[in-house]
Amino acid sequence: MKIKAAVAREKGKLTFEELELGEPRLGEVLVKLTACGVCHTDTTVLNQDMPTPLPMVLGHEGVGVVEQVGPGVTELQVGDHVIISFPFCGHCEPCLDGRPYACDRSTELFFFGGYEDGTRRITDANGAEIGSLFGQGSLADHCVAAARACVKVDPEADLKQLCSLACGAQTGSGVVLNKQKPRPGDTYAVFGCGAVGFSAIMAAKLAGCSTIIAVDVVPSRLELAKECGATHVINGKECADVPAEIKRLTGGRGVHFALEAAGLGILVKQMLRSMRPDGYAMVVSFAGDVPLNASMDLVGSSVTLGGTVEGASNPQVFIPRLVQYYQEGRFPVDKLSRFYRFDELEKALEDSHKGTAIKPIIVF
Ligand SMILES: NC(=O)c1ccc[n+]([C@@H]2O[C@H](COP(=O)([O-])OP(=O)(O)OC[C@H]3O[C@@H](n4cnc5c(N)ncnc54)[C@H](O)[C@@H]3O)[C@@H](O)[C@H]2O)c1
Ligand SMILES: [Zn+2]
Ligand SMILES: [Zn+2]
Repeated sequence: MKIKAAVAREKGKLTFEELELGEPRLGEVLVKLTACGVCHTDTTVLNQDMPTPLPMVLGHEGVGVVEQVGPGVTELQVGDHVIISFPFCGHCEPCLDGRPYACDRSTELFFFGGYEDGTRRITDANGAEIGSLFGQGSLADHCVAAARACVKVDPEADLKQLCSLACGAQTGSGVVLNKQKPRPGDTYAVFGCGAVGFSAIMAAKLAGCSTIIAVDVVPSRLELAKECGATHVINGKECADVPAEIKRLTGGRGVHFALEAAGLGILVKQMLRSMRPDGYAMVVSFAGDVPLNASMDLVGSSVTLGGTVEGASNPQVFIPRLVQYYQEGRFPVDKLSRFYRFDELEKALEDSHKGTAIKPIIVF
């Protein structure tokens, strides 16, 4: 079928093209997209900050309605409302162990543009193959995705508000709820208040953290962080010594848990210096090289530093919980949404970069 899609053609060059989308194959479904969130990782691919094969249809936070089911699909039917999360093979050791975020084939299935059987689904006007980011390529009116990556949701739920559960919000909240697991009364610091950081703040509140500190450089984001659960905010541009301020706010001890979600090595360093002894710090951004003194930053302070993909989540289990928290008003991701038409995608990317849109959502 013919589709209209946003294609990263080459480094920094975004085009809107009419393309040919193939039929869903074994274990796949065709989804008519309602909306798609824009995550920083789309920009990472477009700008080739991480080298990935292009051309590629961008978009990996698609939500929509199943229009056709391929052979072997039993868990979904035409008409189901779905959030399309990340792909995984379903057969490797981590997948069989309930840890699909650690799938042996993650890098390939997320970033190389093909599907599980190694083939691509999209061709351009010249018949050349185009990749689909995260096995979906959902900045398009339709896409094909693996049924196992599609999480069925209550048709009453407002789908277009749930895009970020596919990636950004699942990542930030999952780090807190699936990996770090703070106890009520623990303390938490978030470095970088994008969709990932905000969802970590909301999750820290859900977990009952007593002190939740948000660090960013955009004043409007810090204001919103207070509405989402932050008990204290720090403007990194105005504060001369962020770790010292975090220690001051936590009785001189530092935080139990922290997350870096801005993508800056220097913030990872600041985070490590903000931990209390035996604290647990996580990185989910693509921060690159980090200036680290292992003796001081990790060993002497007994601090654990880790990284993970997609909030260490099993989407078929975790996303329905996040939808429920959202419907109960305890995970207000709608506060992050700003809606755009498809032809406004470049403006959406620009607003995200400028800091005026936290979670841009393209509505089809
Ligand atoms: N590991 C994963 O599975 C996964 C999933 C989703 C996103 N990501 C990555 O996580 C990161 C965050 O994603 P996002 O969509 O929330 O990004 P975003 O760009 O929306 O948010 C980044 C935030 O960092 C803030 N920031 C910039 N410089 C700062 C500084 N010096 N001090 C404090 N804050 C600063 C920005 O103002 C912004 O609010 C990105 O690197 C993204 O690629 C990883
Ligand atoms: Zn993402
Ligand atoms: Zn696997």
